[in-house]
Amino acid sequence: MKHQIPNTFGIQVYANQWLSYHSVEELQLFISEGQLKAPWLHIGAGSNLLFTKDYEGTVLHSEIRYIHRKEEDDRQVMLAVGAGVCWDELVEYAVNHGWQGIENLSLIPGEVGSAAVQNIGAYGAEVADVIYSVHGVDLYTGQVQSWSREECNYSYRHSLFKQPGMKHFALTEVVIRLSKSGIPNLSYRGLAEQLARSSSPCTLLTVRQAVIDLRRSKLPDPAELGNAGSFFTNPFVPSAQAEALKLRYPLLPVYPTADGRVKLSAGWLIEQCGWKERSMGDAAVYEKQALVLINRGHATGADIYHLSEEIIRSVEERYGVHLVREVNVF
Ligand code: EPU
Repeated sequence: MKHQIPNTFGIQVYANQWLSYHSVEELQLFISEGQLKAPWLHIGAGSNLLFTKDYEGTVLHSEIRYIHRKEEDDRQVMLAVGAGVCWDELVEYAVNHGWQGIENLSLIPGEVGSAAVQNIGAYGAEVADVIYSVHGVDLYTGQVQSWSREECNYSYRHSLFKQPGMKHFALTEVVIRLSKSGIPNLSYRGLAEQLARSSSPCTLLTVRQAVIDLRRSKLPDPAELGNAGSFFTNPFVPSAQAEALKLRYPLLPVYPTADGRVKLSAGWLIEQCGWKERSMGDAAVYEKQALVLINRGHATGADIYHLSEEIIRSVEERYGVHLVREVNVF
């Protein structure tokens, strides 16, 4: 029987088969018994996916949910976390214990496995900063495999696991290392400013609350308005191109990076092209953050995809910058 695929865009799509597993052993059994038939797609909470049609294959989902304290000393703690744990529950757990490292990533939708695949990031932090190792299962053979943080090859919203040749691995456990120092990371100016506005002392709990307040003020709640957070990644361009653009558009926000390239704000480029609040049917650009595309009610995946194509075209035409989707399209 067809199974509806959960997704935060609120689009009704179905898969031929749905398999959820609660342990590595159960997943290995699905493989050895031949229940897992290709093609397959492994998903988390569906918070970074856009379906333009039904999925003619098997959707796999991890229900491995544990948080184990693996090792600790007086400076740090190592946690082994099941891939199916809700990301924000892990953040809340860490903050409540006074462990620092992921509080800036509060309220990001999704699950721990996908967080490690796409290297989620916000407010001056990314999950790669705390990852120690990642463990998974080869969906062809059922064999378990482990990768150190270095082997995961993390960069901005990217990892080894996003490469085409790696799609046959399902991540089952992520090991993270958190600090007991309690010293928050306030490198992101907007976060430091948000905290400065409140009279309460700066603790992990108040940082988490400030991040939650910031996100709620800028990003729509998927439970109320279908969306997948930032639809595009921020583009990186060579410094000469950024300089030329800055001469023409003096207000362009530019963020030079350590590798010599310059990061631009996709949200700014989209807004300047006049897209904010515009819609094509029920597919629209969010009024408070142009990087977010929303489903106002009855948009199809194809409607949202079509809107994203038009945005890419107009930004390219005006600024010569090619936007890349952060959301995975199927
Ligand atoms: N801006 C505009 N208009 C807009 C949106 C942004 O002009 O409509 C400009 C402003 O200059 C603003 C700057 O862009 O100062 C940066 O905006 P913001 O702080 O909202 O961050 P972002 O670069 O648009 C990124 C992440 C978000 C993350 C925030 C905060 C990506 C693709 N997105 O957005 O992550 O929450 O920074 O750190 O890197 C996500 O990935 O789903 C996500 C929400």
